[in-house]
Amino acid sequence: MLKNYNHNTVLLKESIESLNINPSGIYIDATFGGGGHSKLILSKLNNDGKLFSIDRDIESIKIASLIKDKRLHVIHSTFSLLKNYMKNYNLLGKINGIILDLGVSSIQIDDSTRGFSFKKDGPLDCRMDKNNGIPAFKWLYSASEKKICWVLKNFGNERFAKLIARKIFLQNKIKKITRTNELSKIIINSIPCWNKYKHPARRTFQAIRIFINNELEELKIILKNSLLLLAPYGRISIISFHSLEDKIVKNFMIKYSQLPLFIKKLPLTELEIKNNYKNILKIKYLGKKKPSKKEISINYRSRSAILRSAEKLKI
Ligand SMILES: C[S@@+](CC[C@H](N)C(=O)[O-])C[C@H]1O[C@@H](n2cnc3c(N)ncnc32)[C@H](O)[C@@H]1O
Repeated sequence: MLKNYNHNTVLLKESIESLNINPSGIYIDATFGGGGHSKLILSKLNNDGKLFSIDRDIESIKIASLIKDKRLHVIHSTFSLLKNYMKNYNLLGKINGIILDLGVSSIQIDDSTRGFSFKKDGPLDCRMDKNNGIPAFKWLYSASEKKICWVLKNFGNERFAKLIARKIFLQNKIKKITRTNELSKIIINSIPCWNKYKHPARRTFQAIRIFINNELEELKIILKNSLLLLAPYGRISIISFHSLEDKIVKNFMIKYSQLPLFIKKLPLTELEIKNNYKNILKIKYLGKKKPSKKEISINYRSRSAILRSAEKLKI
């Protein structure tokens, strides 16, 4: 039996609108989660349309499998491997739209057995795919103090990274840290002060989760591969939840949508652009959106979300 699940999809209407759905098109929801985006996409497709829904979490895949719809194809995988699947289906360059809603779902955070929450006690696991990679507690036990500090700094922007890493390292020598509330307590005892509106363990948990799931590399790979997956005029929309993700998305959009700063001869003809810049100019950036005040008041988790969209060029 599946547990009750509940995930408030962020920027749902805006992100699907930005895909400009063609009812008979082929779409990919690369982060199925609780299925908010997938269900809305399905409602906009006709009988010829197709949707591939992906998630690396088997619990999400179980939820997806409950949807009985011939147009839906469910794949248990990381989205960095999507290109291989689409190649096998002979669908490279034929996808009309891709949605990515990054990070973890409320379903994952609310389930204390997954170890994502610094507020609920549970095993310190933090893996989206429980059958792949190593749980966070094992990594923390085997990592050097320097490496822990590096992860907290780089993936959590944690200003007390050094102090926290030291305490984690020393505590693991005395008794292995295996539970989320043990880690939370260590963090609280490591740092001299914190913002009363932000839990002191928030950044450390985020950093460990990003590291354990290789989240930023996954994102870089799918963005690059989207250029091969999308059909001309196909669209990609990405919802990110923190500055590290958004920076990668923004840099990707800039890199493939702008001509080099210094071009000797201007204006360029369409043929010149096609011949000289086809390896650079791949997409048209369609802009960014943030949740409204109303959405933030209903779903506080949406406050940091940024949606960015782009359209593949036909050159
Ligand atoms: C924010 S939730 C998506 C919520 C979904 N849009 C909804 O409306 O319910 C993110 C989901 O993406 C999955 N995920 C994150 N990174 C992934 C990756 N690299 N490959 C596949 N799935 C991933 C997570 O397991 C999680 O279920």
